[in-house]
Amino acid sequence: MTTVAVTGSASGIGAACAARLGAGGTRVIGIDRHRADVIADLGTEGGREEACRAVARLCGGRLDGLVTCAGLAGAPDRPGSVLASVNYFGTVGMLTGLRPLLADGTSPAAVAVSSNSATIQPGVPSAVVRACLAGDEPGARRLADDFGSLATYPATKLALAHWIRRQATGANWIGSGIRLNAVAPGMVDTPLVAEGRADPVVGPLLESFPIPVGRPGRPEEIAALVDLLLGPEGGFFCGSVLLVDGGSEALLRPTDWPSPWSSDDGPAADGDAKACSRETPSGRTG
Ligand code: NAI
Repeated sequence: MTTVAVTGSASGIGAACAARLGAGGTRVIGIDRHRADVIADLGTEGGREEACRAVARLCGGRLDGLVTCAGLAGAPDRPGSVLASVNYFGTVGMLTGLRPLLADGTSPAAVAVSSNSATIQPGVPSAVVRACLAGDEPGARRLADDFGSLATYPATKLALAHWIRRQATGANWIGSGIRLNAVAPGMVDTPLVAEGRADPVVGPLLESFPIPVGRPGRPEEIAALVDLLLGPEGGFFCGSVLLVDGGSEALLRPTDWPSPWSSDDGPAADGDAKACSRETPSGRTG
């Protein structure tokens, strides 16, 4: 039987992923702060380590899939540091911590949840993105508190998308047979969005958010894409960040992507040709 770990499994998109995978016969190991097989605070290093140990015990050392949904939205009274630690370091910590179990799984794959806010919210603080990608959690937390959680949210999701693309093609991931991808949802009706709607500052912004399909997404629609990416029919996805946002990004930035590769750009990925030969990783963090 296939075993997949899902973070943020108690609510919203994570709960929809767990339900869909479970209905398809997959054994799901849910990880969350409450109502889960593994109770952990992924915003702390100790919580991440304990969660990884617990998952290893529950799956017997072999994991076939991982979906990282645990995350928090920005809110006027929520410190940015919490988002840096949960959304970015919590996610990357679980991906790296559970990667060895995935390497021993069958046709293993991991899917992280980024966000279309990474590319459509103006004013993303690049210093937070850089600190995240440098692995500097204390520095990212300090900067995130300076910028506040509303600006930090898309920074954590942009950093995560870039981390995925850099790592996916390297020795530790596809070089070890593990496909790594991300989805980038637009507004999806979940408790996270309900919290935003109830806020006097964020609520009106969400109400005016343009969604060409005419409605927010449903958690089940994101879960269907995650299921595809995890399974055999998703076997050619590697390092993809898939927008699933009802057309918001296409509406706001119709010609920014695809963009041509100008001749002076060089490869920026951590991946290289060696990845394909499954060499022993050297000094990679992921
Ligand atoms: P949600 O609030 O319904 O679920 C998030 C889950 O993460 C909750 O069960 C919560 O307990 C868990 N969680 C939060 N902090 C945690 C921590 N420190 N340790 C362990 N678990 C923790 O939210 P939703 O909407 O399902 O979000 C899931 C992911 O999708 C998040 O990463 C979010 O940023 C992302 N996303 C959501 C969008 C939306 O419109 N709902 C849009 C784009 C991305």
